[in-house]
Amino acid sequence: MKRICAFLLCLAALPIVKAQNNKVTTASMNEIKFEFTLDSGGSPVYSVYYGEKPVIKPSPMGFTLSNDSAFDKHFELTGTDRSSVDETWKPVWGEVSSIRNHYEQVTVHLKQKDNPHRLLNIIFRVFDDGVGFRYEFPRQPGLKYIVVSNELTGFNLAGDHKTFWIPGDYDTNEYSYTTSKISEVDNQQIVNSSTDIAVRLAPDRYAVQTPLMMKTADGLYINIHEAALINFPAMQLHVDRATYKLTANLVPDAVGNTAYVHAPFKTPWRTIIVSDKATDILASKMILNLNDPSKIDDPSWIKPMKFVGVWWEMQIGKGTWSYSNDADSLSADGNLIPNGTHAANTANVKRYIDFAANNGIPGVLVEGWNTGWEDWFGNWKENVFSFVTPYPDFDINEITRYAASKSVKMIMHNETSGSATDYERQIDTAYRFMNKYGYTSVKTGYVGKIIPRGEHHDGQWMINHYIRVAQKAASYHIMIDVHEPVRPTGLQRTYPNWLASEAGRGNEYNGFSNGNKPGHETIMPFTRLMGGPMDYTPGIFKIKGYSNDVPDRQVHTTLAKQLALYITMYSPLQMAADMPDNYVKHMDAFQFIKDVAVDWDDTKILEAEPGDYITIARKAKGTSDWFMGAITNENSRNSNVSLDFLDKGKKYVATIYADADNADWKENPEAYKITKYLVDAGTKLKLKLANGGGAAISIKPITGVDKGLKNYK
Ligand code: NOJ
Ligand code: CA
Repeated sequence: MKRICAFLLCLAALPIVKAQNNKVTTASMNEIKFEFTLDSGGSPVYSVYYGEKPVIKPSPMGFTLSNDSAFDKHFELTGTDRSSVDETWKPVWGEVSSIRNHYEQVTVHLKQKDNPHRLLNIIFRVFDDGVGFRYEFPRQPGLKYIVVSNELTGFNLAGDHKTFWIPGDYDTNEYSYTTSKISEVDNQQIVNSSTDIAVRLAPDRYAVQTPLMMKTADGLYINIHEAALINFPAMQLHVDRATYKLTANLVPDAVGNTAYVHAPFKTPWRTIIVSDKATDILASKMILNLNDPSKIDDPSWIKPMKFVGVWWEMQIGKGTWSYSNDADSLSADGNLIPNGTHAANTANVKRYIDFAANNGIPGVLVEGWNTGWEDWFGNWKENVFSFVTPYPDFDINEITRYAASKSVKMIMHNETSGSATDYERQIDTAYRFMNKYGYTSVKTGYVGKIIPRGEHHDGQWMINHYIRVAQKAASYHIMIDVHEPVRPTGLQRTYPNWLASEAGRGNEYNGFSNGNKPGHETIMPFTRLMGGPMDYTPGIFKIKGYSNDVPDRQVHTTLAKQLALYITMYSPLQMAADMPDNYVKHMDAFQFIKDVAVDWDDTKILEAEPGDYITIARKAKGTSDWFMGAITNENSRNSNVSLDFLDKGKKYVATIYADADNADWKENPEAYKITKYLVDAGTKLKLKLANGGGAAISIKPITGVDKGLKNYK
């Protein structure tokens, strides 16, 4: 990630000036304005405006420290620094090839009035699409080792906004979203899946996770999250339903502290993205901009890619992760699968390698190849898995040879079952093994309770673990895809080998549970994906009747919408998640998955409304090809999209993968139609999306064979 041009409009910080205590400090950029002041008790207070509209009304800032309770009052302002930056940088991979980082920065220097005169700095950056701020505990006498009890940052909302939320759980984000008013957020406890201890909040306290997406009655879109979550716990939000006040709540450890840090220390950024256009929220690069540049000097080994895998057959109860000579095994639903259905056997894996090679899919993921699966789930056991010992029916030498002969990359799988300490003990051995067998990427997983006991998936200890794993993987030139981690906060800029995470409710829920609602994928880009790419695993073609366990189980989309998800659910790592047998029946539709890119020069968010619809066009890296995806919720939708982003005066061929006229996610989800037309920058496409449907379109410059095609009308 190199800066291609960096010119600081004015980085020469103004000399620190003695300021009055309750003076208001402001900074603004276009419509966005922030104000900071100290109240009469010396407590820091900030507000954010969009034009004249209050986004965040005056709200508290600060901490309680366990060894020194109040770190939120009795401050005086000792000075203010200002700077501004306008630079452009190139991500290693991404939705666009070049990103502008343009902000005004203000640092306020605070000092507590009473002895021991503790120091706290607060740094604000104001962009034209939002505000980020972080706290800095500067080096200072007597405050070296800081134990944070909790953060007191408030987000006092200006009204009872429409909100897209999941419950504040310390261990998982794998929930369906609820759309309600702030006053109707109704999860009264933190459902603590890791320790089974439900942490009850006071009766008037409710908790949600970030990214939290909201829409105001007067049409503002507001997104609250965080950026650069390093050496600190994740931030959840407590909700006061009566006053619409949100308060930061840091994920604690076993003894109730939240963070242990040494001064000097900077917290993650608290982010507020705001616009009167929903499309601006999805296009925002503020969270990436608030993260540090890449720490990987030579990223040439990092390659976005598509893959298939021995996976869906386990999710739907047709195969097992574990190899067993004797007993039957349990499916993801807890039903018995007869012995002899271990999916990661050499012959089956070769079928996937053949399918990948024949269709230009670069990678094959194999889960259940290593010992430990017979005893992995729900036991809170350490030392369950070996990451270097294949089951007897997985011939790794032969599979390595076979895959290499077909130029297919094998993708490693390391499920830790939450035993993070054990994974750290084995990690060098595991990654040397990957290097030896030519695996260049690994999917990791953290199903279950975290060992060491008392840690949470989203607590400080695990936040540091995920980063240690990313760093270790980079040192072995290995890319990672992490399942069940904390939700991302833009760290993929700093560690671009961290290609994707799950950290949300993926397509897999359609495999082993009652699934994801048809509107789910219209919310996720506004929530979970704001911090980074998701390994959502799209591309299920057999929409109904696939489950061995529950015959009427189904995916809650049409087939065409599964194609559109390759565009609307951004990831540099995209699985074609269904089984080859289901693809070979629809090779005309599979052509879109073969063609679609995973790395982009440009992205246009054409239309979007959280919970309702999203239409995006992306230009494939280094080519003139565009790919579009349009999705809707449970309601059908007519979408008229202009192709004015195409090069003027050029002719292209559009292949439109649409819902058939009689398609419907529930009644007739696999009905699609594929049409081809000549289009240009003047074309207006009329797309008809079925209930729960979508459309995927590839647009490529015209070639000789396309001359006979009709113009789109
Ligand atoms: C849950 C993950 O989300 C899924 O993708 C994986 O197959 C299983 N854990 C087993 O590791
Ligand atoms: Ca999962």
